[in-house]
Amino acid sequence: MAVRPILKMGDPRLLQVSAPVAEFGTPHLLTLIADMEDTMRAAQGAGLAAPQVGVGSRVVIFGMERNPRYPQAEMVPYTVLVNPVLKAHWGRLEEDWEGCLSVPGMRGLVPRHRRLRYRGFDQHGKPIDREVAGFHARVVQHEVDHLDGVLYPTRIRDLSKFGFTEELFPGQDIQAD
Ligand code: NI
Repeated sequence: MAVRPILKMGDPRLLQVSAPVAEFGTPHLLTLIADMEDTMRAAQGAGLAAPQVGVGSRVVIFGMERNPRYPQAEMVPYTVLVNPVLKAHWGRLEEDWEGCLSVPGMRGLVPRHRRLRYRGFDQHGKPIDREVAGFHARVVQHEVDHLDGVLYPTRIRDLSKFGFTEELFPGQDIQAD
C-alpha cells in the first residue's frame, strides 16, 4: 500500500471520462483501492476518485468519521464504490460548500441533489444499492463527477462563492489542504 500523488486541476487526466471496471477482485483493483484509501486518509479527504491518482477507472472511495476539513458534516460510512450509477433523485437542489483534493486550499458553493439513490459494486463485485441524503448524497455526486471528468468549480453558479478557504472562513479551524 502506498500514498500516491494527487493530480491537481489543470491536469488533462482529470477531464477524461473513465472506463468501467471489467473484473472485480483482481490484485490490480485491490492494490489501486488500498492505495486510494492510504492517499485519501493521508490527505484527510472525504472522498477520492481513481482519476485523481491518474487511473481512468470508474472507482471511487469515500467516507467520513470526524474530518477537520468538514467539521460540520455528518458521518458517512467508509465505502468503496465501483462502476457507480446515480439512479434517481428527489427534491430541489441544495447548495453547500465543497472542496476537493485536486483543488487544494479552496472551497466553492455547489448545488447538488439533496436525496438520491445510487448503485454500484464493492471491490469484490458485491452489489451496493442505497438511498441517501445530505452530505452522503453530496459526496457521491462529487466523486461520480470525477469519473465523468467534471470538477466541482464548473458547477458553481455564483463565482463570488468560490475562493480560498482561509479567506472565505477566516478564523475557523478548517484545514486549508
Ligand atoms: Ni474531488
